[in-house]
Amino acid sequence: MLPDDDRVPLLAAAYLHDVGYAPALRVTGLHSLDGARWLRGLGVDRRVCNLVAHHSSARFEAEERGLLAELEEFDLEPGPVMDGLVFADMTSGPAGGSVTFEARLDDILSRYSPDDPVHRAIMRARPVLRESVERTLRRLATGAQPMYGAGSTLRLTTQRGGRQDFTVAAIPAIRAARTDVLRAIAYE
Ligand SMILES: [Fe+2]
Repeated sequence: MLPDDDRVPLLAAAYLHDVGYAPALRVTGLHSLDGARWLRGLGVDRRVCNLVAHHSSARFEAEERGLLAELEEFDLEPGPVMDGLVFADMTSGPAGGSVTFEARLDDILSRYSPDDPVHRAIMRARPVLRESVERTLRRLATGAQPMYGAGSTLRLTTQRGGRQDFTVAAIPAIRAARTDVLRAIAYE
């Protein structure tokens, strides 16, 4: 579905998009921005940093937190790659299993009180996120090739409040390119 030049950034961002939740990386409290800045500091590919910064309509939460100018240090790249990242994020539950978009959003809203910036941002972002998911589903339905390559596995296990563990399986390109970053995160 995506050309090779897009697949690696998408996969890298899919693995890394929530790294900013790691307590050791928390600076502003906007996890997408904290994660993107940390990755930028490591010299990670600029496009990956941009995707992490803006994943899942982060600009809404940035507005809620008064951090939009800071988020705009990173370029927003609308299109199939960002849509694919939104799709992966918004159709996967906290334990990594597949969930529907609506169930995913309802779960997030239930975990944050109505006055929390995350709750308010998700309420505003919901139609935008839904459009991204629907565009990806249409592309998957009409695409000539699988999104991630035959036999690959994409899995992120997050332990809330603790370190983040990553399982990398059967994606040699990512494993080779990002081993240093993944190791740094796993043992932060
Ligand atoms: Fe996130």
